[in-house]
Amino acid sequence: MRNFVAAALCVRYKKPLLISVLGFVVVAVLYSWVILDSSFLTYSGSKLPKLSEWLGSGQAGMAGEKSDGKLSADASFSARQQLGSDIQRLFVDYEPSADAVNQTFLEKWPTMVGFQLDKKFNYDEVANASTNFFVDDEASESFKKQQQELMNAIPSWASVSKAFSGRGVVICAGSYDLSRIWPNVALMMRSLGSSLPIEVWTKDEEEYSRTLPMANQLRTELGMTISVHALSDYMSIVWAFVSVTEIYKVKALSLLLSSFEEAILFDSDSVPVMDPEVLFDSEEGKSGLIQWPDFWTNSLSKVMHDAYDVDYSFTRTCESGQVMIDKKKQFEPLVMTSYFNWWGPTFFYKLINLDGMGAGDKDTFWVGSAVYHRDYHVVGRALELITAKKHNGSLWKEAGGVFNGAMGQFNPINTSEIFTMHLHAPKINLQAAELYGQYDLQFFLPEEKQNVSYAKGALWLETHLWENLQWVECESVHRNLTSNACEGVKERVISLREALGE
Ligand SMILES: *[C@@H]1O[C@H](CO)[C@@H](O)[C@H](O)[C@H]1NC(C)=O
Ligand SMILES: *[C@@H]1O[C@H](CO)[C@@H](O)[C@H](O)[C@H]1NC(C)=O
Ligand SMILES: *[C@@H]1O[C@H](CO)[C@@H](O)[C@H](O)[C@H]1NC(C)=O
Ligand SMILES: *[C@@H]1O[C@H](CO)[C@@H](O)[C@H](O)[C@H]1NC(C)=O
Ligand SMILES: *[C@@H]1O[C@H](CO)[C@@H](O)[C@H](O)[C@H]1NC(C)=O
Ligand SMILES: *[C@@H]1O[C@H](CO)[C@@H](O)[C@H](O)[C@H]1NC(C)=O
Repeated sequence: MRNFVAAALCVRYKKPLLISVLGFVVVAVLYSWVILDSSFLTYSGSKLPKLSEWLGSGQAGMAGEKSDGKLSADASFSARQQLGSDIQRLFVDYEPSADAVNQTFLEKWPTMVGFQLDKKFNYDEVANASTNFFVDDEASESFKKQQQELMNAIPSWASVSKAFSGRGVVICAGSYDLSRIWPNVALMMRSLGSSLPIEVWTKDEEEYSRTLPMANQLRTELGMTISVHALSDYMSIVWAFVSVTEIYKVKALSLLLSSFEEAILFDSDSVPVMDPEVLFDSEEGKSGLIQWPDFWTNSLSKVMHDAYDVDYSFTRTCESGQVMIDKKKQFEPLVMTSYFNWWGPTFFYKLINLDGMGAGDKDTFWVGSAVYHRDYHVVGRALELITAKKHNGSLWKEAGGVFNGAMGQFNPINTSEIFTMHLHAPKINLQAAELYGQYDLQFFLPEEKQNVSYAKGALWLETHLWENLQWVECESVHRNLTSNACEGVKERVISLREALGE
């Protein structure tokens, strides 16, 4: 009956409803066009000097320059804002042509590679077929030319180096769900005794405001060096959300625009289990880029090989739950990586990974280096799927989890030890905390696989992970006292500490 009334009302008021909806759409479009677009055009087209000219002017003791030749925090912020605006303009100027792409092929493509875990495909066949990506040779040649021009136009490290300094960790977070997950990364770094400063990057003002109170609390109450940043302070991205993969562009851009010269990026669910700082001075870190392998067979398209002369004999995809970068060695490649992500969902995710299992930002980091023919390091040992289980031996999956496990990624320096646990399912959040209390869940399993160990020991890590979760669920601004998570976690911590003898 109620449905009927509602339907009748809709019919009766259809016209005015339609007019007001249309009116709203027109106003919204005009608003975004005038306000967002023109503010960006005014900004990027303004008389502000280009960053490279500004920083490369060679004036000794320019405003904001410190004795070590680096810019002060304020001057660095303005410089990186200018960089964000400059590269946004560059990326827009060098939009890859959609007309050059063979749409028939694009429609057929995903069905060739598939998105199932166990789907096998003949890589050679797919790679050969990928030469149909462009409509014709002319389109493919002009793409090649455009890319060469872009690579020449990208600002050099020398022209921007003053804006970046120090070492640190970048965490991308911001959504409601991630706001109680990322603190586990920061808190584990603290447990491990790491003093690296942390920048948490969000996409816009709304996410920034959501993330700030937790960061402030970690800073003031636990004394951590931690700050929050919004990408929208550096670039004016209009999120179209044509694809769920669009959000991935935040990662490369955050790494690029962060104030650090050397940085390690962690996903908000990728928890380090050893102090990550050791990587910066390691032999493996010398190239300035470390990536870790993912599960899947590589599907880098032959078009990439032809356009940039990239070696695609690489056998696995990489993942980007953790990435180490040294901008001194990899600045230009990182800009290129950001460009690949800027045009990722509509172009490069298809081009780079054939829309296969690795699609997304994950492979764009090493590919950025490869197109510049620079060295990079991919950890030689495949990741280990480490399955979460309950103390009585049942697997998490049996306890209601859909896809159980963490990706144990190895220490590049010593591949017998785990470096980070990418705890993707289950994640360490409230809902899981409620379940963990109930099921006595365990993450850091005893060394039961060959040559898999934790420098700190499984019990130590388990205890600290839960202790940190207890802080989030019982003490933090995100605690939820209507849930039983806090009490459940407390019990777990008591029994773990007893076992550890602390
Ligand atoms: C476009 O792709 C389809 C499907 O792969 C292919 O059959 C066709 O030859 C391609 N067209 C051109 C102009 O390359
Ligand atoms: C792919 O192309 C190469 C040369 O372009 C050829 O030697 C090879 O047989 C092709 N593979 C398949 C599966 O078509
Ligand atoms: C383990 O404990 C869970 C409840 O916590 C129970 O459902 C399951 O049957 C137990 N498994 C074994 C093997 O005892
Ligand atoms: C484990 O380590 C031993 C010696 O340290 C080595 O001989 C063996 O090949 C390693 N096995 C694996 C699977 O890495
Ligand atoms: C590598 O790690 C394993 C496990 O922690 C340890 O036994 C071994 O001594 C380490 N090797 C080196 C060279 O440090
Ligand atoms: C708090 O926890 C309860 C019980 O799980 C849940 O229903 C509620 O949505 C949570 N509140 C917030 C703000 O997350």
